[in-house]
Amino acid sequence: MSAPTTRIRIWDRPVRLFHWGLILLVALSFASGKSGAWTLHYASGYAILTLVLFRILWGFLGSENARFLHFLKSPLAAFRQLGRLTKRDSDTETSHNPAGGWMVVVLLALLLTQAFSGLFANHDPGFSYSQHGPLALKVTEATSESLSALHLAVQRYLLLAIGLHVLAIMLYKLIKGHELVMPMLTGEKLLPEGAKAPRLASGRLALGLLVLAGAAVFLFIRFF
Ligand code: HEM
Repeated sequence: MSAPTTRIRIWDRPVRLFHWGLILLVALSFASGKSGAWTLHYASGYAILTLVLFRILWGFLGSENARFLHFLKSPLAAFRQLGRLTKRDSDTETSHNPAGGWMVVVLLALLLTQAFSGLFANHDPGFSYSQHGPLALKVTEATSESLSALHLAVQRYLLLAIGLHVLAIMLYKLIKGHELVMPMLTGEKLLPEGAKAPRLASGRLALGLLVLAGAAVFLFIRFF
């Protein structure tokens, strides 16, 4: 096990802002959904949709190690990785490990489904339409009912996935001694000598893609 001696910037600012912003928005969405603060609930839903769309674009055009093709390995590699969970070894990762990579995809897919279905959902038992998402009246009642049911169901899977995500990060710290939270906060990770720094994309590109994602969400809601 080689000692970590080199401090390397692995997470760019857009990924870190995306991550911590997402946590705040998800908490806000759950709280406002439970308390019936609908204006806040819709606003946080639009913001989540924008952030997830941005992260998908960033996963194709952004920093080298934030790209899906970089960190998505075969499912077999992910299972092998999980099999090594009990082994204490040195952390050499400059991106998500194979299991973590798949968890990222699961989280993004669940968040996208949750926010998208909310646009068409209505919130009343019996679907009386007194309270509804911005596009609920643009689809048939049956479609709105199905998407309302999906909106209610997916939140449970989302909570489960978030729980597993946080548990995995804690286990990596406790069992393997891998510190993953600090790099997501500061961007930097302590790695063994010889680790190669990933190529990070520019903040300007990130801002452009964020504006593009926001515009796509706005236009979709306005003109659907
Ligand atoms: C609402 C709750 C959460 C959601 C939806 C969420 C979602 C995500 C997503 C989508 C990523 C991938 C980031 C990217 O590549 O852009 C990620 C990574 C990560 N998250 Fe979270 N997260 C949540 C809560 C947390 C919490 C509470 C912590 C810390 C205790 C945390 C720590 C991390 C870390 C350390 C990574 C990077 C893991 C790695 O190195 O592979 N997350 N999270």
